[in-house]
Amino acid sequence: MTSLLVGPPATAAGDPAEALGRGAARVLLTNWMGASTVPSRGLYPHQWSWDSAFIAIGLRHLSVRRAQRELETLLHAQWADGRVPHIVFNPAVPHDAYFPSPDFWRSSSAGAAAGAPAGTETSGIVQPPVHALAAWLVHLADPADSRRRGFLPRVYGRLAAWHDYLTGPRDLGGGGLAAMVHPWEPGMDNSPCWDAPLGRVEPAARGSYRRADLDHGQPSERPTDLDYGRYVRLATDYRDGGYADAGAEHAFAVEDPCVNALLIVSERALARIAAETGADPAPHERRAARLTEALVERLWSPEAGLFLSRDLVSGELIPEKSVAGLIPLIVPGLPPEIVDALVGTAEGSAFRLGEVPMVPSYDFTGTAFDPSRYWRGPAWFNTSWLVERGLRQYGRTRAADRLRAAMLAAAGESGFAEYVDPFTGHARGTRDFGWTAALTLDLLAADPGADAGVLGQRPDTTVGVNA
Ligand code: SER
Repeated sequence: MTSLLVGPPATAAGDPAEALGRGAARVLLTNWMGASTVPSRGLYPHQWSWDSAFIAIGLRHLSVRRAQRELETLLHAQWADGRVPHIVFNPAVPHDAYFPSPDFWRSSSAGAAAGAPAGTETSGIVQPPVHALAAWLVHLADPADSRRRGFLPRVYGRLAAWHDYLTGPRDLGGGGLAAMVHPWEPGMDNSPCWDAPLGRVEPAARGSYRRADLDHGQPSERPTDLDYGRYVRLATDYRDGGYADAGAEHAFAVEDPCVNALLIVSERALARIAAETGADPAPHERRAARLTEALVERLWSPEAGLFLSRDLVSGELIPEKSVAGLIPLIVPGLPPEIVDALVGTAEGSAFRLGEVPMVPSYDFTGTAFDPSRYWRGPAWFNTSWLVERGLRQYGRTRAADRLRAAMLAAAGESGFAEYVDPFTGHARGTRDFGWTAALTLDLLAADPGADAGVLGQRPDTTVGVNA
């Protein structure tokens, strides 16, 4: 392995940025399993879809080849219908180490009609589409190596099929946005946004399954048993319906602004990937433009001052303010009045940007706010990274600089925690968490003064590690 250098060259021994970079690199090296990275050795011992994409964005600063491999391992488990599963199981890990395990999802049998791979066990649900964005950023880290190895031509078709799945069978609302059919799919499992739609779901019987997450986490920092029962019921029903989307009954179906904003920037990334590989970027640009229109038309709430999720069962917007509603700041070309309103909401009493470290996952003033419990208040590094990129894109440089500094401080002080208390920055959830470390490396490598959006960012320094 060559020497590790992250961020600007150290000027003196003991440079805190260099020490932080070394700590982050240590987490990524420890969590590397040979072909992909686990989010956490204990709590999440397999490969997770959006974790891997965020991890690749940071891993590119350490080893471009590993970052390429990370994404290709995930895409190798893609189903024939285009879905990229939210978990790719490591067959060497005992079944009771994580729940729901492969014998719950039964992808190779229950998912056969939907085209699940025969030789790899996966879950049957998806997570937000960060992958084309990640592939593009990995390419930018070393375009010459990427071209030499044919990285983008190898992933382009799979990424395009993934987006076709999300905009085709997953347009359950018929309005041009991707819908999510399980609270694990938007990635913010127990967000208060899902309380009302989940309230209609009959929980699976207690005792019919055993939670493994509580072996590793404080119960007060994890979803409740009642929520878990509902997650299990929804996943069971989806599996028993052969993981069918269109034409199937979905007790839970939502359009989420974070998922769709990520789809838009990933579709824009796909346009760049297409151009780089000699394909036509125009269909991707057109689809990104249509998605942007649909996002504003279907999910923007001028009254709330941010984007809301739409419950497709009731047809109504869900009146809960989540960080998911600020993340469309990453979408280029939003109307200026929407950008102003989003920044105003971020800086207002609901999120208190600039006053508290990072960005809480949920409204400080909301009745369901809880500073410790998973997605009901704590601040997460991936969502804060997205808000930071969005603020920078729209010229809110001082706010972005402050957020970046707060994230770097919290990452180091919390031991690269999964999430942190939004008032104090104290660690919550598990430690040595993959995307926290990866996005720390990315923030250290990015030029803080660069006025670039999520797609335009170029790393300052990239140092190879032999993969
Ligand atoms: N986030 C879920 C969990 O906590 C699954 O993706 O296990």
